[in-house]
Amino acid sequence: MGEITNVTEYQAIAKQKLPKMVYDYYASGAEDEWTLAENRNAFSRILFRPRILIDVSRIDMTTTILGFKISMPIMIAPTAMQKMAHPEGEYATARAASAAGTIMTLSSWATSSVEEVASTGPGIRFFQIYVFRDRNIVAQFVRRAERAGFKAMALTVDLPRGGRREADIKNRFTLPPFLTLKNFEGLDLGKMDKADDSGLISYAAGQTDRTLTWKDFKWLQTITSMPILVKGVLTAEDARIAVQNGAAGIIVSNHGARQLDYVPATIMALEEVVKAAQGRVPVFLDGGVRRGTDVFKALALGASGIFIGRPVVFSLAAEGEAGVRKVLQMLREEFELTMALSGCRSLSEITRNHIVTDWDVPRLLPPARL
Ligand code: FNR
Repeated sequence: MGEITNVTEYQAIAKQKLPKMVYDYYASGAEDEWTLAENRNAFSRILFRPRILIDVSRIDMTTTILGFKISMPIMIAPTAMQKMAHPEGEYATARAASAAGTIMTLSSWATSSVEEVASTGPGIRFFQIYVFRDRNIVAQFVRRAERAGFKAMALTVDLPRGGRREADIKNRFTLPPFLTLKNFEGLDLGKMDKADDSGLISYAAGQTDRTLTWKDFKWLQTITSMPILVKGVLTAEDARIAVQNGAAGIIVSNHGARQLDYVPATIMALEEVVKAAQGRVPVFLDGGVRRGTDVFKALALGASGIFIGRPVVFSLAAEGEAGVRKVLQMLREEFELTMALSGCRSLSEITRNHIVTDWDVPRLLPPARL
């Protein structure tokens, strides 16, 4: 293979390099994987309305997220167990994010602890959290993340139960024995059993709390001063409730199509959530972002930034830290080029008028002649 020229190419390399069980865990979606394909396809229903003859010799992609200045609106989503992809796992991701001047979100189910990730050096990091049955564990997680200098939390709300990923069931997915879920170490929860169905799903079913409600979100706010993002909102209804309950921001996410199949692509759900949030909190998106043009489209629909999941684990598998750096660099360059070719010099110049979507039908048709 010649030089890697886009983010998607890393998936094929990862497939070659990784054990089937690991690759399938990273790649797969729930059930029919309709939403998985849709997360990508939906971007092709949005076209550009570029503006011309604007001096684009200087492009500023910087932005401020929850008060933290970053180099571009492209951030790293939490993905579990990155050491299955590469021995340096989350360390490599943390270093690559810092080098790119952007934010990494560490998963609760990481194979490196918050302290270990912090030890890689300075960087703006968020911690993704699930509210587990045992609230003591949650409180310990929060305290450790705060002490390790993490700046915000992302509460994942779309996993009251694990989705049905059939590849994991077939493969009897389990964490390789030489790895542990490091944030659970010392909490007597660090190892998963090889179970009858999917080891991970059984494990998750044991720890995740099906009774979770907004009351628990309120409780989480009482035990930390960190801002809390709500990750996994897909409707205007829930966006409104999130704002009412003091969310610091909303992440429009369908968990990379790994939970409920046949939910819409996140880029299709984004606009209603943005409208419902009424500018009171920032709205972010993850799911299927593989191109700089995707980033631009999300921002044009009102997102304050996007997160990438699979591109990180696939590039980690292929080239470790260098791979993740390259993914961030490629997306950055593509996004910069998209801005230039659309006539936008800063993020604030990206507007809804720079795109036209399938659902803007009247605008696609010539005016009716009566
Ligand atoms: C995830 N995701 C996820 N989300 C979360 O809140 N906690 C987690 O531990 C994980 N773990 C995880 C593992 C793997 C392998 C994947 C692919 C995804 C979801 C993730 O944060 C994000 O929502 C999606 O990955 C975004 O979609 P793309 O970029 O993968 O298409």
